[in-house]
Amino acid sequence: MIAGQSSPERRKVTVPDLARFQEEGRRIAMITAYDATFARLVDRAGVDMILVGDSAATVIQGERTTIPADLAEMEYHVRCVARAHPRALIVGDLPFGSYQVSSEQAIASSIALIKSGAEAVKLEGGITMAETIAAITRCDIPVIGHIGLTPQSFHRMGGHRVQGRQAGLEAGGRDRLLQDAGAVEAAGACAVVIEGVPHDLATEITEKLTIPTIGIGAGPGCSGQVLVLHDVLGLSECRYRFAKQYADIASIVVDATRTYVDEVRDGAWPDLEHSFS
Ligand code: KIV
Repeated sequence: MIAGQSSPERRKVTVPDLARFQEEGRRIAMITAYDATFARLVDRAGVDMILVGDSAATVIQGERTTIPADLAEMEYHVRCVARAHPRALIVGDLPFGSYQVSSEQAIASSIALIKSGAEAVKLEGGITMAETIAAITRCDIPVIGHIGLTPQSFHRMGGHRVQGRQAGLEAGGRDRLLQDAGAVEAAGACAVVIEGVPHDLATEITEKLTIPTIGIGAGPGCSGQVLVLHDVLGLSECRYRFAKQYADIASIVVDATRTYVDEVRDGAWPDLEHSFS
């Protein structure tokens, strides 16, 4: 490496890199983050993409579903993550109600996230969102699709339910999901998240598409994987079969805080070393 040049591994990840990773068969690692502190840490760990997900509604705001997330909140979280200046590509999630009304609404919402610091946007839906995806990409805003278990479809699905288990062309049917994937790619998406589907279906979709597939609860056959940071760190209230907990940060937080409380109560904190004279 020539002095002064940054290592290729530290170069900013851009949207064209996703196609290159796909060509090279290099698996893509994506994780969520919602603030500058965690964006800095996950970036230091080498993730390729940071998803500022509307899962902020559940893991940050304590909601039961992602449906209450709104655009102003997502702009705020994208701004917080962007201030960390991560090497990873920043993907801003379009919240429910910010893109379904019309292509014009979807374009305006996407512009708001891009102006906040996102480098691509993500939206949920397949065939029914194809024209919206095409409209946003015509404005030179890269779009990542999201099919399968789409959490914003909570009420239609009757909960967060695995999709694509049955054959059929109705929403959530296996044949429909194959068509959804094709429609998202044809509309110009640069990648697609596949959530909560049987692993053989995710593998079949991955083999049929040329754009990368990013799986969550979709098995090992995808081009990359995404998880919610709070599940990975053991900060979530629930445990999910599809999510791996890599650390127990909740216990560290509780233990450290308990020690602080004990020291305040028994007068051990603050000591003179941490006091001014
Ligand atoms: O909002 C989110 O975190 C997501 C992931 C689950 C893919 O959409």
